[in-house]
Amino acid sequence: MKIAIAGAGYVGLVTGVCLADFGHDVVCIDKDQDRIDALERGEIPIYEPGLAELVASNVGAGRLSFTTDLRAAVGAAEVVFIAVGTPSRRGDGHADLSYVYDAAREIAASVEGFTVVVTKSTVPVGTGDEVARIIAAARPDADVAVVSNPEFLREGAAIDDFKRPDRIVVGLEDERARPVMAEVYRPLYLNQAPLMFTNRRTAELIKYAANAFLAMKVTFINEVADLCEAAGADVQQVARGMGLDNRIGSKFLHAGPGYGGSCFPKDTQALIRIGQDFDSPMRLVETTVAVNNQRRQAMAGRVIAACGGDVRGKTIGVLGLTFKPNTDDMREAASIDIIEGLQAAGARVIAYDPQGMRAARDLLEGVEFGDSAYDVATGADALVLVTEWNEFRSLDLDRVHGLMKVPVLVDLRNVYRHDEVAKHGFHYSSIGRPAGLSAIGGAAEAAE
Ligand SMILES: NC(=O)c1ccc[n+]([C@@H]2O[C@H](COP(=O)([O-])OP(=O)(O)OC[C@H]3O[C@@H](n4cnc5c(N)ncnc54)[C@H](O)[C@@H]3O)[C@@H](O)[C@H]2O)c1
Repeated sequence: MKIAIAGAGYVGLVTGVCLADFGHDVVCIDKDQDRIDALERGEIPIYEPGLAELVASNVGAGRLSFTTDLRAAVGAAEVVFIAVGTPSRRGDGHADLSYVYDAAREIAASVEGFTVVVTKSTVPVGTGDEVARIIAAARPDADVAVVSNPEFLREGAAIDDFKRPDRIVVGLEDERARPVMAEVYRPLYLNQAPLMFTNRRTAELIKYAANAFLAMKVTFINEVADLCEAAGADVQQVARGMGLDNRIGSKFLHAGPGYGGSCFPKDTQALIRIGQDFDSPMRLVETTVAVNNQRRQAMAGRVIAACGGDVRGKTIGVLGLTFKPNTDDMREAASIDIIEGLQAAGARVIAYDPQGMRAARDLLEGVEFGDSAYDVATGADALVLVTEWNEFRSLDLDRVHGLMKVPVLVDLRNVYRHDEVAKHGFHYSSIGRPAGLSAIGGAAEAAE
């Protein structure tokens, strides 16, 4: 099939390259000339494991190309995906749909013959109706079916998620789009991935409901972690005990500094606004957002407490800046709040991240950057593990201890165990695991 994709960001690029890998003929379009120039030179603008190789092989096979010329690409396509950003609108938290609507207008001007226009961006209920209206108003003669096909990929595992999805959701109002979408995803369907057809509004809501539920799950375990600290219980074992129940599941039950990233913060905000618009308030989601915001603000305080209540003039080393490992995405990363809180309390911050430092330099003022975890540890009064990159999981703790001025380790991802770290002479604090208890947990798990 001939497929055009408007927006060559995280989702557009991954969608484009995977669809090309299925054998379709794909053109990725972006307004950003630098991005397209880089892609044409074979440079990938984001860090995503496996993406560069897959782009290279599909470009080489002649199935994938890049352009800023939407008109030609859309004119030739049977299916056009909209994969542009839908950030939070400044001030009110609504999803900013201006990029989606601009793309719809541009697509309307260029479609030829029957074309399925697919919204892959995460958009509020009713956006598909508006996209259809925009296209019909701009081009009354256009023969278009507007479909919702939300994307569930996770950054850091995006290609695998796209190629082995738990489900593919397709919301449509025009039955002619059904066989077209089935053909787009045929290789996945053959692999038994459930292809779920709904009406358009249902598909739009599935995406927000899923993300809000996951954000709520993370926030739930974070609150339980605080309770564990107060009550002398171990949150990792509570999470394990909960997660082994199939009705609950073990994923997204890792206590930490609060969720961030390019999706959860904006999608929870947007769902709250959608609920208000429909006079059907999403109270659990409202509370989730409030609890998460509070938690993120509170994390710097934990570090300050671990440093004896004062960080003025002290050097704090930060390990990990991106909102999660295996991505260079810094959008709404917890590290931003933590670092700003530490700086406001008078600390000097030196940070290291395997992939996120380029983006971080534009976002964080007054932060110094190190070349490695050991560089950041050198002379530090405390080390804070914020993002659980693999390379931080097996640090040479003796070496780190030897480099630091004061051996304080604040582990906001529960990567280490109290007994293990204490053996190397650190003052250690983590999330929801009072000192001494993790030793018991570790022994029990090792015995299994
Ligand atoms: N990033 C994720 O993990 C993820 C996962 C699932 C869903 N989503 C959703 O997918 C959508 C895209 O997210 P993203 O992270 O890929 O965004 P992104 O910011 O990485 O990419 C968006 C791209 O669209 C381009 N663009 C904007 N208007 C355009 C136009 N009219 N024509 C052509 N290109 C245009 C921009 O230049 C940019 O490169 C959002 O709605 C997001 O919520 C994201």
